[in-house]
Amino acid sequence: MEIVRTISHLRHAVGQWRAAGDRVALVPTMGALHAGHIGLVGAALSMADKVVVSIFVNPTQFAPHEDLDRYPRDEAGDVGKLAGAGAHLVWAPAVSEIYPDGFATRIVPEGAALPLEGAFRPHHFGGVATVVCKLILSALPDVALFGEKDFQQLAVIRQMVRDLALPVAIQGVPTVREDDGLALSSRNAYLSENDRYIAPMLYKAISEVARGRDPREAAEALIAAGFARVDYIDVRDAETLAPFVPGSGRPGRVLAAAWLGKTRLIDNVGF
Ligand code: PAF
Repeated sequence: MEIVRTISHLRHAVGQWRAAGDRVALVPTMGALHAGHIGLVGAALSMADKVVVSIFVNPTQFAPHEDLDRYPRDEAGDVGKLAGAGAHLVWAPAVSEIYPDGFATRIVPEGAALPLEGAFRPHHFGGVATVVCKLILSALPDVALFGEKDFQQLAVIRQMVRDLALPVAIQGVPTVREDDGLALSSRNAYLSENDRYIAPMLYKAISEVARGRDPREAAEALIAAGFARVDYIDVRDAETLAPFVPGSGRPGRVLAAAWLGKTRLIDNVGF
């Protein structure tokens, strides 16, 4: 498995595959890989001949008070996992490769980016959209895969690809969970033993809302269980993320974000 750092090396490798008629998949990640990421690689291998995994902790999607500095990083461990999973190339650019001196362009997504995470982290999806656009235009894959764990992110990326006519297919992949229901996330590494014990309550709460429980009651249950704060539990249209209209016959999604100590967890389920 090859490891490259620059856009020109990446384009050279992908260009050779394309010239040979291979279909190419991109799995964008911020590293600290877990079984959810490995599932994305597995899905990518089932859809493409060659799989590129990017590892880049994107500074522009973190606000100054957020966890950029302590975000878990383990490139050697990640590379070992990706080799074992059958990826063909790891692209691990430096910050200066993605944001060279003088970088001054930013995508500002609206629509699906505005509610929920957009209300609590107003800077976030601009950073995600900008970097994902650059990752896609650098690798020029046939398909890019993203986990449904970040369901709003997936909706924002689909919206961007549609609006800007980016020549790539976007594939969402279902969330991987621990046996007790907790969604796998690199940030689970922050949880204390006690927080880890309480954390699966989030999945239980949103599953109950998907079955018809009042979201306010579910939020109260999370606070009673030991969560410090609930940013939101909301029922939305699964495609537009507009408020869900009961009886519309459209697919719905329950999305939530809540704090356990200093760790912010997000999760979602469909119904
Ligand atoms: O989901 C993530 O890991 C990141 O938001 C992404 C899509 C790699 C962009 O930095």
